[in-house]
Amino acid sequence: MRTLEVQIAERPYRIHIEPDLLYRTAEMIRPLVAGTPRIALMSSKTVESHYRERVERSLRDAGFEVRFIPMPTGEEYKDLKTVSGLYDVLISQSFDRNCLILALGGGVVGDIAGFVAATLFRGVPFVQIPTTLLSQVDSSVGGKVGVNHLQGKNLIGAFYQPKTVLIDPRVLQTLELRERISGLGEVLKYGFIRDAAFLDTCLENTDDLLTLSDMDFVTGIIARSVRIKADIVALDEHEQGRRMLLNFGHTIGHAIENSAGYGVFRHGEAVIMGMCAALMLSTNLSGLEKTLAETYIRHLRRIPVNGDLTQLDIDAALEAITHDKKVRDGKLNMVLLERIGHPRIVEGIPEDTVRETLEWLKDLYTEGVLS
Ligand SMILES: NC(=O)c1ccc[n+]([C@@H]2O[C@H](COP(=O)([O-])OP(=O)(O)OC[C@H]3O[C@@H](n4cnc5c(N)ncnc54)[C@H](O)[C@@H]3O)[C@@H](O)[C@H]2O)c1
Ligand SMILES: [Zn+2]
Repeated sequence: MRTLEVQIAERPYRIHIEPDLLYRTAEMIRPLVAGTPRIALMSSKTVESHYRERVERSLRDAGFEVRFIPMPTGEEYKDLKTVSGLYDVLISQSFDRNCLILALGGGVVGDIAGFVAATLFRGVPFVQIPTTLLSQVDSSVGGKVGVNHLQGKNLIGAFYQPKTVLIDPRVLQTLELRERISGLGEVLKYGFIRDAAFLDTCLENTDDLLTLSDMDFVTGIIARSVRIKADIVALDEHEQGRRMLLNFGHTIGHAIENSAGYGVFRHGEAVIMGMCAALMLSTNLSGLEKTLAETYIRHLRRIPVNGDLTQLDIDAALEAITHDKKVRDGKLNMVLLERIGHPRIVEGIPEDTVRETLEWLKDLYTEGVLS
């Protein structure tokens, strides 16, 4: 088993990663809680159908009382209405501040359940078992929990660290390929901002990663990703500086995601395209060597994202970017690379430069130009 410490100042905690760890849920939780608290196991439909039983059995066999609390599936339910419904269920079932909330699912389940845990009775103990690649390498690490508002994603939330995070890479076997690709986008991002050798390993073995042909390899990739994110978060728990680096590929990625409309691209797919744009911009604005950038762009372009950018509305994408909080006085700040593994925040990027890059990206992701 791989165990990583997250060095958050007030309360460090551990993340455990191992195939079939789900069967050992109780054993991992036991030392972190006083006695045997009642456990509210929250999960969504698909995940529940695959994994509820093994988690529940582990907990019940160890003497825990478990109540299963169903959650809706999908980003459109990540809101205060769902949170409110969950408060109702927990309070009506007499859960008290000594209970434990266990989130079993992807980022949506983790973000909602974590927000409930952070706020119910001013905070109850929380454990995450993330089941998508994206949630294993990204959303379960760092303590950001929350829900969407009609005006925008993740506008309501808290920083709330779990007691532990249990990652079982085996569960990725039931995850759709498209969701694995989305998670891969974030994995590659860690390589770009922190570890060139890791990036190359991932790019050389993308097929193995996506087909999960070697669980040890997948486990190692997840562990390295979590380590990189956890280290950045530990330096900047409340997102005032260093954590910005995690936005590599995200400015243009978000713009593509938002302007395409809900559900067209998965988040990580948009990040893959956004990283192509960021690499191109890096050659002009932060001194990244051009041939190197082109090599990585070719690698990224080969990853089969669903759909293309033929329909990309460049004005709408630019509008999405200028509404982004990173814009100051019509100029944009972005995370770009000086070298692979060495990011820097570049300030004051003119809108015209971004427009040209979007035009270039649209061509790159228009069918037929794959090389
Ligand atoms: N808190 C953070 O720091 C942070 C960081 C990144 C993303 N997020 C949030 O995470 C969310 C996206 O998370 P996601 O990509 O995990 O999507 P998701 O939670 O919507 O899950 C994607 C789909 O996969 C299914 N699924 C999950 N695990 C499965 C499994 N093992 N087998 C089969 N199907 C499975 C789910 O039912 C769902 O249909 C967004 O809401 C985003 O805002 C949060
Ligand atoms: Zn992301």
